Amino acid sequence: MSDDAFGTLMASIDPPLIVLTTAAEGERAGCLVGFHAQSSISPQHYCVWLSKANHTYRVALRSAHFAVHFLTDQDAATAERFGTLSGEDTDKFAGLDFELDPHGVPLLGACPHRMSLERIAVLDDGSDHVCITTQVSSASAPGSFEPLRVSDATHLVPGHSSEERAIQP
Ligand SMILES: Cc1cc2nc3c(=O)[nH]c(=O)nc-3n(C[C@H](O)[C@H](O)[C@H](O)COP(=O)(O)O)c2cc1C
Repeated sequence: MSDDAFGTLMASIDPPLIVLTTAAEGERAGCLVGFHAQSSISPQHYCVWLSKANHTYRVALRSAHFAVHFLTDQDAATAERFGTLSGEDTDKFAGLDFELDPHGVPLLGACPHRMSLERIAVLDDGSDHVCITTQVSSASAPGSFEPLRVSDATHLVPGHSSEERAIQP
């Protein structure tokens, strides 16, 4: 399949966007994610793919707990903050309303449609993203919502491009 056809297919399905947050040893991290999916009904499992170039990925490797915040069409500013800045040189949580869950994972006050996740496994298939498979430990769904989608974020320049990852010689 050509790159063009793959790109056309992926643009056509237009995935919803989430912000994944995590924490390890007091270090908080979070980024905008378009690669994510339910992966089991019972038990309830959810997968998230993190770019190896991201600060969030490096913190996630040291963490077993995550929160997924489903963004709504009102959350463009949150998408921009978490998708264009890097925790390497910016505190993305500064000035935001958030609380910490019992594992120290930030829960964003502006994004109440969310799930808490516990890591089951990490799969590195040699590509530019790593799959984190998780068990859903809790979920909060205060009504239905219109998701913010990748097509709403095409103007955003990611804080890190996936080509920035370290490559094994
Ligand atoms: C529309 C869009 C979708 C993105 N999807 C993903 C994704 O699925 N996984 C990922 O790790 N990064 C994804 N990113 C990139 C990160 O959100 C971005 O590089 C971020 O600034 C990284 O921050 P960090 O270095 O603090 O982790 C996406 C960015 C945008 C703009």
